[in-house]
Amino acid sequence: MRCLVANWKMNLLSASAGAFCDALLADPSLAGSSGCQLGIAPPFTLLKQVSEAVRGRRISVFGQNARAEAEGAYTGDISMAMLKDAGCAGVILGHSERRRLGGETDALLAAKLQAAWDAELLPLLCIGETLEEREAEQTFPVLQRQLSILGPKPGPLWIAYEPVWAIGTGRRAEAKQIQEAHAYIRAELMTRMDEAAWRVPILYGGSVAPDNFAELLQIPEVAGGLVGGASLDPAKFMAMAKTAAKTEE
Ligand code: PGA
Repeated sequence: MRCLVANWKMNLLSASAGAFCDALLADPSLAGSSGCQLGIAPPFTLLKQVSEAVRGRRISVFGQNARAEAEGAYTGDISMAMLKDAGCAGVILGHSERRRLGGETDALLAAKLQAAWDAELLPLLCIGETLEEREAEQTFPVLQRQLSILGPKPGPLWIAYEPVWAIGTGRRAEAKQIQEAHAYIRAELMTRMDEAAWRVPILYGGSVAPDNFAELLQIPEVAGGLVGGASLDPAKFMAMAKTAAKTEE
């Protein structure tokens, strides 16, 4: 199965999100792209609007983050159940922007992961090394640490390998770097989940765009992409969805 998830981050308003969904749903190739599971992660304010717009289509809505606690005095925050209530099927967890800007630690993410499973949301766990960590040859230890929160028997999940230095920089990681990281992640999953590890799609993220997506999908172990900047334009998003459907795994 191919997967393509749009991470809108803190972008778009109701009018532009509506125009995006209209363009997406009007594209006749969408019905044909059954081999690709599409996802959209809008900001909180647009979750309900987008989930209502895409209801009944092969498009899942993801939250970009949520708190681990079920409810309570957490001004400005949102729970997993609230995401579900707004129509989400999944939640992005551990995006590097949240690790860096929101101070999210592996311990915190372990709690969020469990909360997502408890709420029956599919976690899309983002992992990846910084440039300093790569240059210090710490990529694999970092990935291992970030994956250690899965525990011995993880529930269903998707993973996105996103080298921090490739996010929003226009500098996509090289095929060899991606292949090595994805193979490492798969091997780590195998130690926890045996054969079930093969059911976990490993997406790549970091400067994915229509002009590099086909090449990316040829890399072994790359199931699809988590796309930021290029996902804000419905034409670019659909171009990538078509590429994914054509190169079905
Ligand atoms: P980018 O972002 O595609 O703009 O590099 C990817 C991400 O942050 O998930």
